[in-house]
Amino acid sequence: MIRKAIFGLVMIVVGIAALAAGAVLWLGLRHDHAVAGTSPVVMTAQDPVERGRYLAQLGDCRACHTAQGSADYAGGRAIPTPFGRFYSPNITPDNETGIGRWSAEDFWNALHEGRARDGKLLYPVFPYTNYTRMTRDDSDAIYAYLRSVPAVHQASRRHDLSFPYSWRVMLVGWRALFFRAAVFQPESGQSTEWNRGAYLVQGLAHCSACHEARNALGGVQTRNNPAGGLVLDWYAPVLSAAGEAGVQDWAAQDIVDLLASGKSARGSAMGPMAEVVYESLQHGSTADIRAMATYLKSLPLTARPEPETLPHVLASDWPKVKASGASIYTRHCAQCHGDNGEGRFPAAPALAGNRALTMDSAVNPIRIVLFGGYTPGTPGNPRPFGMPPFSAALSKQEIADVLSYVRQSWGNDARPLTAVEVERNSGGPLW
Ligand code: HEC
Ligand code: HEC
Ligand code: HEC
Repeated sequence: MIRKAIFGLVMIVVGIAALAAGAVLWLGLRHDHAVAGTSPVVMTAQDPVERGRYLAQLGDCRACHTAQGSADYAGGRAIPTPFGRFYSPNITPDNETGIGRWSAEDFWNALHEGRARDGKLLYPVFPYTNYTRMTRDDSDAIYAYLRSVPAVHQASRRHDLSFPYSWRVMLVGWRALFFRAAVFQPESGQSTEWNRGAYLVQGLAHCSACHEARNALGGVQTRNNPAGGLVLDWYAPVLSAAGEAGVQDWAAQDIVDLLASGKSARGSAMGPMAEVVYESLQHGSTADIRAMATYLKSLPLTARPEPETLPHVLASDWPKVKASGASIYTRHCAQCHGDNGEGRFPAAPALAGNRALTMDSAVNPIRIVLFGGYTPGTPGNPRPFGMPPFSAALSKQEIADVLSYVRQSWGNDARPLTAVEVERNSGGPLW
């Protein structure tokens, strides 16, 4: 709370400073007059509506713009963030409540510049900070597709944000600091496939929207030593670091398997990533998924992010924690994950040498033991095996003990954790 209040104050100061400075104002409000750019891959001539449907899937537009049990693209899905709760707007072609009156130009301004038809600046929870990399042509295709979906009359819900984030005008300062509208420019020294992958990963598929840490003001931090992002109470690991989500040393086929099916020989997709695969990536063409793999393999390796300062297990407590963890493991986990964490193919993954378990951040292991989980059901992963939830069967202390034990066994060497850390990550699933 205090942290938030301080950040709130910082935000106000930044906002006021920004408003005072004409230069900043210009930076925040300027239009991008650059040319619309060319997509690095010439797609075979196709009906724009069909092409738009495909692109909207890769952009995962429907996942955010559809509330559970309600019509596609009619909005209303709640998106919880540290700044408050956003509700996605209706983007069906309804004239009163959707984007029926929007022109292709208005639509482009939203995706490319983060600006609504009435000039209102848009919150970056709508990942236009990535979509700005898209070409005008692709934007027009998505526009054509969205005009073809049934119009739904449903007023968009107001966001429920804490002060000062509720002041849209603050976005002027935010944009000056963190946003530049710019279409992707292919790199001439790289292959067409690499450029297509970069275009998709940086732009439409908006991977960094989750995978990069945001600072207190909600800006994506770009540093030499990037940190992963927290999204919907999960940790999205760093895409360029080997011990996190880096795939530089994976075989291209393993990356393709992960992105297209949610499961691979090297790792699997859980939580929010499982939804990304289910809603979006599994629909990608083989060529596009391969292109993303090519680009991801080429990312310059970065070091693991700085470890967080968290309550730690005292050396004097370790023998007790280890004994308790070992006994819980034998009773509750070994039947699936194996006596030595070797896994039982295909029922449960190995825990020995598993980086999803041994990253410094223990957020995802905690959440998966508390609430269980599935990899997404896809053609490449038709019968996903589930991990059962243990929030009822085990106490926070027991979960801390068993996770500390598995993070320190069979060659694993990750920081043990305390019940306080489990408690902190025990808010009900948002996903
Ligand atoms: C992570 C969730 C998320 C994703 C993914 C997403 N949107 Fe949105 N979108 C939002 C939210 C939230 C807003 C409202 C922002 C605001 O009020 O400032 C929004 C706003 C918009 C707007 C402006 C609508 C208006 O009435 O002002 C358009 C147009 C739009 N999105 C289209 C798209 C398209 C097209 C895609 C896919 C390429 C997409 N969105 C993907 C969450 C998302
Ligand atoms: C909605 C947020 C979100 C988006 C968008 C997203 N990811 Fe993830 N991703 C996550 C989270 C959370 C995890 C950690 C959970 C897990 O391992 O599945 C993750 C995990 C991963 C992993 C590690 C898997 C492993 O087992 O080591 C890779 C690789 C990855 N994502 C790649 C991508 C790529 C490439 C994109 C863009 C095409 C992308 N992600 C888009 C949230 C996201
Ligand atoms: C009924 C079989 C079963 C039991 C019992 C079980 N698990 Fe799992 N576990 C799974 C499956 C299946 C997955 C993969 C699910 C997924 O990827 O979403 C998994 C995933 C995990 C992961 C994430 C690993 C990864 O690669 O992403 C961890 C950590 C984990 N289990 C720990 C435990 C612990 C600790 C226990 C005991 C308290 C336990 N599991 C009990 C089946 C089981």
